[in-house]
Amino acid sequence: MSLIECKNLSLGYDGHEIAKNLNLSVNSGDYLCIVGENGSGKTTFMKTLLGLNPLISGEIKFGDGLKRSEIGYLPQQTAVQRDFPASVFEIVISGFCGSMGLKPFYSKAQKAQAQINIEKMGISHIKDRCYRELSGGQQQRVLLARALCATKKLILLDEPVSGLDSNATAEMYSIVKRLNSEDNITVIMISHDISAAVSYATHILHIGASCFFGTKEDYIKNQNTTSLEVAENE
Ligand SMILES: Nc1ncnc2c1ncn2[C@@H]1O[C@H](COP(=O)(O)OP(=O)(O)OP(=O)(O)O)[C@@H](O)[C@H]1O
Ligand SMILES: [Mg+2]
Repeated sequence: MSLIECKNLSLGYDGHEIAKNLNLSVNSGDYLCIVGENGSGKTTFMKTLLGLNPLISGEIKFGDGLKRSEIGYLPQQTAVQRDFPASVFEIVISGFCGSMGLKPFYSKAQKAQAQINIEKMGISHIKDRCYRELSGGQQQRVLLARALCATKKLILLDEPVSGLDSNATAEMYSIVKRLNSEDNITVIMISHDISAAVSYATHILHIGASCFFGTKEDYIKNQNTTSLEVAENE
């Protein structure tokens, strides 16, 4: 079975529908980019996958032994979150909180794994620094290291390059690509950068007035056909 299967999802808040008719499946090793206009429901979709927001209707099934508590999540950043007063190490290791149950302390193994993820993201030199004093690019690496503490299978990234300059953006994309191709972590990423989505992703989900889900190749074909139709009608 797929890692995730979504059938006829209707998403929203308090019964008010924001996106509907979402049908998609994500397989282990996929790199899915979610695109769509502001307010179309991309973040809502991620929160619904994580169980943070109830479904209005439809069905989400997890396969390949995936549990909700084993999904790494890098949330869309707000000014308040950017100002969080904790050290890099504290933030990274807090990625284990979802799997701790009632245990009050982090284990030796969790501390060691947090350190490995910090090294993987190239942020060892700032491990003891306060998160809110870091650059946007450094903060995103910290949050990615945190998301990796929660999972070995699947990461959900909500606009991980938002606000980053072109160098930091390229670095972030290359880190994520490596996690996908070398560590075999399935990636679901929300992005407004269609050209990057098309170059890195294996699959695209477009949420909006009309929804699309398919391989990157089908998405490109679909875009070309739609723009040809628009040109012909003009
Ligand atoms: N907690 C909430 N309660 C009620 N409505 C909400 C809530 N969160 C978001 N919404 C509304 O749901 C709609 C979709 O929001 P969402 O954050 O999913 O959009 P998005 O596609 O991620 O947009 P963006 O590209 O700006 O991040 C918006 O109209 C938003 O105002
Ligand atoms: Mg959003």
